[in-house]
Amino acid sequence: MKTVLSVVGARPNFMKVAPLHRAFQRYADSIRHLIVHTGQHYDQQMSKVFFDDLELPHPDIYLGVGSASHAQQTAKVMMAFEKVVDEQKPDLVVVVGDVNSTLACALVSAKMNVEVAHVEAGLRSFDRTMPEEVNRLVTDAISDSLFVSELSGVANLKREGIGQEKIFFVGNVMIDSLVHFREKARRSIVAEQLGLSRKSYALVTLHRPSNVDEAVRLEEILKLLLEVSRNKNVVFPIHPRTRNMIQQFGLQSLADSSECLKLTEPFGYLDFLNLMENAAVLITDSGGIQEETTYLGVPCITLRENTERPITVELGTNVLCGSNLLLAREKSLEAMNGKAKHGSVPELWDGRASERIAEIVTKRLK
Ligand code: UD1
Repeated sequence: MKTVLSVVGARPNFMKVAPLHRAFQRYADSIRHLIVHTGQHYDQQMSKVFFDDLELPHPDIYLGVGSASHAQQTAKVMMAFEKVVDEQKPDLVVVVGDVNSTLACALVSAKMNVEVAHVEAGLRSFDRTMPEEVNRLVTDAISDSLFVSELSGVANLKREGIGQEKIFFVGNVMIDSLVHFREKARRSIVAEQLGLSRKSYALVTLHRPSNVDEAVRLEEILKLLLEVSRNKNVVFPIHPRTRNMIQQFGLQSLADSSECLKLTEPFGYLDFLNLMENAAVLITDSGGIQEETTYLGVPCITLRENTERPITVELGTNVLCGSNLLLAREKSLEAMNGKAKHGSVPELWDGRASERIAEIVTKRLK
């Protein structure tokens, strides 16, 4: 029996590990698959609701590290995860995505001579001011198997000198979750509860430091959303970081100034997927949402200068607007009038990436 530990920490990790957990169950006679939750995200709406929605079992091990500066958070995860590796003696550790927990657990495993598999490897924004870019570069450099979701990732890894034998182009595990739960999400009544009809609203998520940690920028974005809300309802589930910043910068009354701009708590996975599928347009700075909207064929306006997921721009429905909020306004209004660009679904985004990964990992451990 071999032991595989998969690490989750923050919200975008849960939908990536859920299909991997299902895929590893097929090899339950030879693989013991355990889930370690670092506790980087801990609120009910940032964590627990995803375990319920994604039908994930309770984490086998919970580290409870919580929020702190990057150095402190990363260090706390490392110290706690080192003990887990000591106790559980895993044969392989799976880390997903690019959050601080990803980097911390990859580093601990590599130093303890445990094999590391990185899922969603090779993505590069080429912007090292983003904490996630540093996490991606370091994690990929020390991982033994690199599972890649789009072909740009393969090219990036090869350019960085990583051997071909470590790189596996397998598709997108987050799309596995979307495919698996799409029907269930369609039964959510969240849109009805919010009084929204199909394609009649814009859906917004914003949490990146580059958009929300600076008062002027955040105020400009809120004004953009208020303008968009003159044409259509705008639904804005607020990330805790963004909520803190709105309060800190004294922007709450601006944010509350229109009934058509609906600020809500973060949604769970199924409600959010339902709202995304039925939205006229997404306005976001999330990485994952750029991919999910490309799969769903829903227009996506991204308030970032760059993307580590270029396929969503080349093939999908994503438009990068950077700091140009006039362009974002124009593109949002176009999309709401049905004039957005059309896209297609990238190669191997077929709902089976996790199965490919579980098969490769299982063979490797034999
Ligand atoms: C983290 C990830 C980011 C990911 C995002 C998704 C890193 C470097 N960043 O950013 O890549 O896109 O998650 O959400 O790993 N907080 C709560 N409750 C929670 C979690 C956080 O209130 O459950 C608040 C705390 O005030 C915290 C702040 O949100 O200080 C930021 O949380 P943190 O985990 O540091 O970074 P995110 O911005 O969530």
